[in-house]
Amino acid sequence: MRDLFDRIIENKGPLGKWAAHAEGYFVFPKLEGPISNRMKFQGRDVITWSINDYLGLANLEEVKAVDAEAALTYGAAYPMGARMMSGHTDFHELLENQLADFVKKESAYLLNFGYQGIMSAIDALVSKDDIIVYDVDCHACIIDGVRLHLGKRFTFKHNDVESLEKNLERATKLAEQQNGGILVISEGVFGMRGEQGKLKEIAALKKKYNFRFLVDDAHGFGTLGATGAGAGEEQGIQDEIDVYFATFAKSLAGIGAFLAADKEIIDYLKYNLRSQMFAKSLPMIYVKGVLKRLDMLRTRPELKAKLWENVYALQNGLKQRGFDIGTTTSCVTPVYLNGSIPEAMALVKDLRENHGIFCSIVVYPVIPKGLILLRMIPTATHTLEDVEITLNAFSSIRERLENGTYKRLSAAVSAAMNE
Ligand SMILES: Cc1ncc(COP(=O)(O)O)c(C=O)c1O
Repeated sequence: MRDLFDRIIENKGPLGKWAAHAEGYFVFPKLEGPISNRMKFQGRDVITWSINDYLGLANLEEVKAVDAEAALTYGAAYPMGARMMSGHTDFHELLENQLADFVKKESAYLLNFGYQGIMSAIDALVSKDDIIVYDVDCHACIIDGVRLHLGKRFTFKHNDVESLEKNLERATKLAEQQNGGILVISEGVFGMRGEQGKLKEIAALKKKYNFRFLVDDAHGFGTLGATGAGAGEEQGIQDEIDVYFATFAKSLAGIGAFLAADKEIIDYLKYNLRSQMFAKSLPMIYVKGVLKRLDMLRTRPELKAKLWENVYALQNGLKQRGFDIGTTTSCVTPVYLNGSIPEAMALVKDLRENHGIFCSIVVYPVIPKGLILLRMIPTATHTLEDVEITLNAFSSIRERLENGTYKRLSAAVSAAMNE
């Protein structure tokens, strides 16, 4: 037998092994200053493309004033206890009603965190005789939610309706034998590559198969659809989504999340969602703060319009310069380049130090080996000048990647990491 920690100390995991080279710079970087298009990184001014504050609400004075007033009135603690026991208020109810109205569902239920909330929702929605069929590229919170399921689960190939149908056939056979039901899960927008889930095509399969449809719309809520109600609204099938999930941590620049569905289903979840039943209620600062943000979403359509102006400028500019931005159909803007992890590190350093551009870098094992993904999140706070500076910087780094500059610069790291 060995000590439990031996393995942990020997093998730090696929990302953890990079910690000595990456921490504080590539991972766990400290962005400073007010949340906006321009922030400071290690004392330098940088254009930030890595923050999900899509509508630019995080630093608006009128939003911060509501946060501050709530903090003064209620402190950070109120209400104490779980919703069921002592943590329930009129404002929690008000926010739920407004969210339900906004996404055109009968009822909504607040979650303290999106991640745990959706895990718990998956856990509550299925029993051991039910079958889950989910897109293989779903976010970690969905994968973890599916791990809680005691019954069968099938994945379908990413956004592949044929593969979904094949798995629905298998799932239907099993469900008939077990007298269970089927839950299909997709995302409104896949956050790494920016593709919208094929919600319309999936919903159309309801005519042929009996299943319920859960959509995680973390990146679609506030950014897609005529009113900002998300990917379901954008694709005209909001009614076909049986359980809608979105987080406040992106376009609403807050914390917390919600589920929306028919009243009967939300009533069930209120009494069966373990992450809420056995956890302290969402503090009033966030409840009041999200009420204000939701009001901004409803009454300030120019924020979404500015966001999309920036999205189009950035994505079209990248495409015109011949960059591979994959198949994004949302604000999330990936730029795919070929290179090793050490080369990616040298490239990102160049972007930050010499061009003042801060964006997230995604490498293996999140994406296939040999690919570098620079993931950019345009927001309503960016300007067209930011876009122009960034496009020029990208042309420069591509040239240096292709002429081997980063390979030379990263030789020492490569040798040390045996890459
Ligand atoms: C698709 C998706 N679902 C869920 C979450 C988790 O939400 P939260 O940050 O509110 O826990 C995220 C956040 O990164 C996400 O991208």
